[in-house]
Formats: sequence, C-alpha cells, structure tokens
Amino acid sequence: MYGNSPQGGGTDRPAHPRKRVTAPLLRERKGGEAITMVTAYDFTMARLLDESGVDMLLVGDSLGMVVQGHETTIPVTLDEVSYHTRAVARAAHSAHVVADMPFMSFQVSANQALENAGKLVKEGMAHSVKLEGGVEVAEHIQRITRAGIPVVGHVGLTPQSFHALGGFKVQGKNDESARRIVEDARALEQAGAFAIVLEAIPPDVAAQVTRAVSVPTIGIGAGTECDGQVLVCYDMFGMSLGHRPKFAKVFAELGSAMQSATRDYIASVRAGTFPAAENCYAPSGASAHPSAPRAKRSGRKLAAV
Ligand code: KIV
Repeated sequence: MYGNSPQGGGTDRPAHPRKRVTAPLLRERKGGEAITMVTAYDFTMARLLDESGVDMLLVGDSLGMVVQGHETTIPVTLDEVSYHTRAVARAAHSAHVVADMPFMSFQVSANQALENAGKLVKEGMAHSVKLEGGVEVAEHIQRITRAGIPVVGHVGLTPQSFHALGGFKVQGKNDESARRIVEDARALEQAGAFAIVLEAIPPDVAAQVTRAVSVPTIGIGAGTECDGQVLVCYDMFGMSLGHRPKFAKVFAELGSAMQSATRDYIASVRAGTFPAAENCYAPSGASAHPSAPRAKRSGRKLAAV
C-alpha cells in the first residue's frame, strides 16, 4: 500500500555492494577522500541517501526547525532525536548514523552526557553521537568515548547557544575568536572525538583547524579546506522555507517540483482524470453496471450516498 511496505520495495535488506562506514574508517579518511554527511530524519529520506552512497547520516537537532517548525533547535528533546534516529538507522545499510545530542541532554554533567549518549545508541540505534561545544564539554566527550561510544564534536557556530551568540552568526571573525575555535577543536580531539563539525566560520580559520587536528573536520559554511562537508537535506533538495544560508547549495529544486506535482494532482482529481483505469483494481463483477468514466467534478456537489 505504501512505498515502504513489502509490496512497495520492502524493508528487507537488499544485496548492497557497500560495506558499513564505521567511525575508525572515517577517522582514517583524514586528508584522504572527502567525507560526505547529510542530515536525515525519516526512513525514506535516509534510504534514498544511503543508497546514493553518502558516508554519514546525521539525525541533527535541526529537525526542530525543518521538521517541527521551531525557530531554533533548542526545544528538541532526547526522545525526539531517539525516535527519528531509530527510523534513520533502519534505513541505513552502509552509512554511519550519527545522533545529535539536543540542548540540555549533555551540558549538565559528564554523567548526564554518558547516560543520554547511551540512550541514543541503545534505543535510537545510533552508531555515534554528536555534541556541540569546545573545552567545556571535553570531559563529557572523554566519558562517552571511554564507554565505547564514538563522538563527533561541533565547534564554530553552535546553534544551541543561539541566545548567547545573539543569533545564527558567523564565528571566528577576529583573531581571539579564531584562536578559541582552534583550541576547542584540539580539546575535542584530545578528549577522543573521531571527527569535528566546523559550522559557519571563515575558510582560513577552518583550514587552520583542519591542520591543527589529526581527526577529520566536516564543514558546513566553512569552505573547502575541510576533510568533508555536511548539508541539511531540506536545504540541498530545495525544500527549505524562509531564509537559506549562502553555504546551503541547492542540488535539486525538489520543493518547487513537489508543489507543481501537487497542483497537477489537485487539477486531475477535480477534472476526473485521476484515478484512471490503470490506477484502479479490477471490477469485482458484483456490480450490474460497469463503471463509467467519472464526470468532471469541479464545482459539482457530491450526491448523498
Ligand atoms: O543539527 C544539524 O543538522 C547540524 C548540522 C547543521 C551540522 O548540527
């Protein structure tokens, strides 16, 4: 009935040529083939991205904005990330699935961070977790990695600090701020992070960070001198509403294609051209009268049944 039902392709694992992308394999990609990461929040999108060959699927707390319609990522809860991660993990045959730790799920203490990272791996079926912050979360990352959970760090623009930063603003624009970002990245590496997301920083600062750490850097709005790139799927597919940052390249205008398809659907239903014979099951034979093509329906009141 639906696209993911057994008749519609199934959730059974098809023979798939790619091997699982693991944290150690990603760690080895430093300075090598560029890492590709894309956000995903549901099974179907994750399956399409996984089958296209993306290395990492990030269940970002950006879901608060693009899925839930909030203005920031701050309201997102651990249970919500866990729920979406489970759906994505079911779809990912090869890609490495990273679950984002939402606001206040790791900041309180190293114990809290470990417990909640554990939930995202155990209940959400994530392969690793990502958390925002620098020196101040290094101890938390150490606790998580020592428990056997791989961690991705995130420095530069950290959207969970929206209020402290005064909005979604480019970071590292002066020497002091750039120096702090490099220091933060070094602290994350020392704490055991296997990769670090660099968000919204000038390309020369990203290049400095990439040279300063031995783990891969994954940029978003951080220029070309990173070991990989990440995009929000709704941005790259032209489905985002409202402001789209300049780094969010649209690789396909699917949003306008969806609206055009929806207008076609509405017109077809109203004109009586959908469903056509090929969209209908065979008649049961119980009816005395073979079904005639439906008349154009626009503006016509339906008779009571
Ligand atoms: O939540 C998210 O989607 C992210 C990416 C922008 C890196 O953190």
